Amino acid sequence: MRYPDEIVEEVRARNDIVEVISSYIHLQKKGSNYFGICPFHNEKTPSFSVSPRKQIYYCFGCGSGGNVFHFVQNYENYTFPEALKLLADRAGITLPEIEYSEEAKKAKDLKTELLKVNKEAGKFYYYQLRSDSGKTAMQYLKNRGLSDETIGRFGLGFARTGQDLLYQYLKKQGFPDELLKTCGIFQFDEKRGVTDKFWSRVIFPIMDVNHRIIGFGGRTMGDAKPKYLNSPETPVFDKGRNLYGLNLARTARKNNMILCEGYMDVIAMHQAGFNQAVASLGTAFTSGQASLLKRYTEEVLLSYDSDTAGVKAAIRASQILKEAGLRGRVINLSPYKDPDEFIKNEGAEAFQERIDQAENSFYFEVRMLERDFDLNDPQGKTGFAEEVARMMLRFEEQIERDNYIEGIAAKYRMHPESLQKLVNKHAMQSERIVVRERTRSGIHDKPVQDPGIDAAQRMLLAWFADDPAVYQAAKPYVGTDDFSPGVFRKTAELLFAQLSDGEADPAAITTRFEEEEEQQQVAGIFQTPLPEEQSDGEKERTLKELLINVRTHSIQEKLYDASSGADDLSRMIALKKETEQLNRLTFHFK
Ligand code: UTP
Ligand code: MN
Repeated sequence: MRYPDEIVEEVRARNDIVEVISSYIHLQKKGSNYFGICPFHNEKTPSFSVSPRKQIYYCFGCGSGGNVFHFVQNYENYTFPEALKLLADRAGITLPEIEYSEEAKKAKDLKTELLKVNKEAGKFYYYQLRSDSGKTAMQYLKNRGLSDETIGRFGLGFARTGQDLLYQYLKKQGFPDELLKTCGIFQFDEKRGVTDKFWSRVIFPIMDVNHRIIGFGGRTMGDAKPKYLNSPETPVFDKGRNLYGLNLARTARKNNMILCEGYMDVIAMHQAGFNQAVASLGTAFTSGQASLLKRYTEEVLLSYDSDTAGVKAAIRASQILKEAGLRGRVINLSPYKDPDEFIKNEGAEAFQERIDQAENSFYFEVRMLERDFDLNDPQGKTGFAEEVARMMLRFEEQIERDNYIEGIAAKYRMHPESLQKLVNKHAMQSERIVVRERTRSGIHDKPVQDPGIDAAQRMLLAWFADDPAVYQAAKPYVGTDDFSPGVFRKTAELLFAQLSDGEADPAAITTRFEEEEEQQQVAGIFQTPLPEEQSDGEKERTLKELLINVRTHSIQEKLYDASSGADDLSRMIALKKETEQLNRLTFHFK
């Protein structure tokens, strides 16, 4: 399903980004941009920028960014059509009835219908818990320490014993069998007919961030196995992209999120005031869930079970957090098994203390590793150091690595210099492995991408968008294929096309990227800070430097292309020639 580009553009043009964002957060003018406290991560000093001219926003702190649609999508957790609708309404534009493709229409209808079924089922369970037949279940929840308010807030319910009570109830409401087959809470059997999935279980409805029920978990009140039954994945239930409790935790406004393993843990923590708690959905924590969390926080506290499986899962989860750019810390629950038990026995204050003391997740991992070695034995200690050094390679930033080397060395009484050497050794080895693999697969060894080249491409694009005269001056010397394939090149293509027709329109460019990550990158490119007021001479020098940088890199890339067959010498000659040419040029900015 798609609205015509002109409609999308009209809605965007009639919604000034500064006005729209100002209705959500406080913005203050600073130079040509507006700044405010970023709503997508926790911060104290404003790094969230909005450009009235480019009609984009970008946060220098967390990297979220895009145009007015993306802001509304991210802030409200809306899909694109939902954001479009909101902004069209705001501008008094009536959207045309759009023609869904047959397939898209079916998929959309199916999802809407499934959500309806879930909602009705949730209601059914909810009233059962509060009816006479739900008395024992209610008592069970009370015995586990839950208040009426908590039971209500999480919409808990009860499925009583009965072959097909829910099925009959939903059939009466007119839902067709085909739909009920897809929603995952019934078994359809040739011989036995239809049976409800949940019998005699307490029901935990699982909601998405918009409080819509997408699935259910059901716990037995006795020793029946399995302890929990869960809805399977359905078109509305993606277990890797939702988190239990996030619908409530997303507005907790704490400076962290707590990630745990169980539904009951989440509920117990919320009841004790830790309403930033969420849990994965009976499956291992995923990177999709990490990026979901990243919208709301920078730091995640892991509150996993203290048994072996829990420790293993916590280590894995903290690695996933790190990869997603989140800080992780681990809450020590000992001597209790899980946060629910801890809070029941020790109370909220003691839990808060454990939060305050939560251990850096890298230190946690190292401490768990330590158990496998005898540190009193020189050999054991060496083996341990080797392993730790290998782990250090995860830190891409030198400063971060240095800090950890220092910290670990002090903690385990090692010489920082020796540990540093070990880290270097492992770095070299892993480097060699990467290179060897590349050659074996037939790809020539390429110089590692210089981070400076990204900066140069970014700056050039931002500058062109900002000042068409610079683009006109540089145009003969740089083409779209001088930019790295992917976001950079596509941005260049769209931007150059706009500039040759007149003005740059960065916000329109952002619309052309489908993935959120790409939209953010594009907004980041256009919000690259540019040098303040420059004289023509300075401008010329800066431009030359950037062009030489970008061109050199692109020529190098082309020459390294396996098919070019260029040797080192011819490569150098070609580069030298190009650089000299660029250096000789004079630019006129008119
Ligand atoms: P736990 O066994 O730690 O249960 O499983 P819990 O959360 O502490 O629950 P209580 O306190 O015994 O009631 C943690 C999570 O793993 C999933 C559920 O999501 C559960 O919340 N799980 C567990 C299952 O999906 N199936 C099971 O049989 C057990
Ligand atoms: Mn438990």
